[in-house]
Amino acid sequence: MLTKSAAKAFFLGGTALCSIAFVLLSMDTLAQFPERSNQDEMTESVVRGHMIWNKNNCMGCHTLLGEGAYYAPELTQVVKRRSDVWLTEFLKDPERMFPGRRKMVKYDFYDADEVGAEEAKKNIDDTLAFFHWVARIDTNGFPAEPDMAPANALATAPIAANSILNAAPEYVKSVCIGCHSIEGQGGTVGPALDGVADRFDAEYLRKWVADPLSVKPDTTMPNLGLKGEQLDDILNFLGTLKEN
Ligand code: HEC
Ligand code: HEC
Repeated sequence: MLTKSAAKAFFLGGTALCSIAFVLLSMDTLAQFPERSNQDEMTESVVRGHMIWNKNNCMGCHTLLGEGAYYAPELTQVVKRRSDVWLTEFLKDPERMFPGRRKMVKYDFYDADEVGAEEAKKNIDDTLAFFHWVARIDTNGFPAEPDMAPANALATAPIAANSILNAAPEYVKSVCIGCHSIEGQGGTVGPALDGVADRFDAEYLRKWVADPLSVKPDTTMPNLGLKGEQLDDILNFLGTLKEN
């Protein structure tokens, strides 16, 4: 049995040793933060995006690095499952990407009609800069995998080497494919687009893609505000989707 004084020495010595180990390990962890969080990449835009995130209580529904509420998707790795093009369209008006089942708030400061095109674009760009910065933090593997479930569309899933999608404009690969499939790849919100050029003539397709509501007032396909060269590129690609 230990004598009283030996027990005391054991207790004090043990406590001191563990305290020293605790302080040293904490210092080691703290010293790694700047590198693991890429502090030097924390640009003004990232900081502004973080302020948008905090001020609007996005955490009231979402988690980031596991912190926040569990009502809406974890967003730490959101830029790995969604492209910037998709996220931009989504933030402008969430309902467009989830027709009829939107739960995400539509924020005025992302809406060009509310605050002007320049301000809206800056707010979106800064939010995305913040998401990109967060996604690069070395979190020791958290979260294990970004959620790539089909319900989350395949905006950034790898495209098969021989797929016709390789020739598609970026917008088709990241936005249209969120809802439509081509050669089996993509979402199921809208009809598959294989052979769409056999079913519709070029004029109809142009009218439809530019403004679906003008063709079918009760459609759930969103008006994506496409025009100019971007619209031309998309229609040129749709024209190649022939099966006959
Ligand atoms: C009231 C709850 C709520 C708040 C507040 C909220 N969101 Fe969301 N968010 C959602 C829900 C729910 C979804 C899932 C899609 C849907 O149903 O609309 C979502 C989806 C998203 C997505 C797409 C995620 C994905 O992988 O599809 C992003 C990005 C996003 N939110 C960003 C934000 C930002 C930035 C803010 C703050 C400015 C914010 N959210 C505030 C509820 C919310
Ligand atoms: C948010 C989901 C969504 C997105 C994004 C979307 N669509 Fe659609 N699309 C639909 C739905 C739903 C329909 C069926 C609408 C209906 O019949 O009312 C549709 C119908 C169509 C049709 C008619 C097809 C047919 O066989 O009837 C074409 C063509 C089309 N979309 C092209 C596109 C292109 C090109 C893009 C990208 C620029 C795109 N869509 C983006 C949901 C979407």
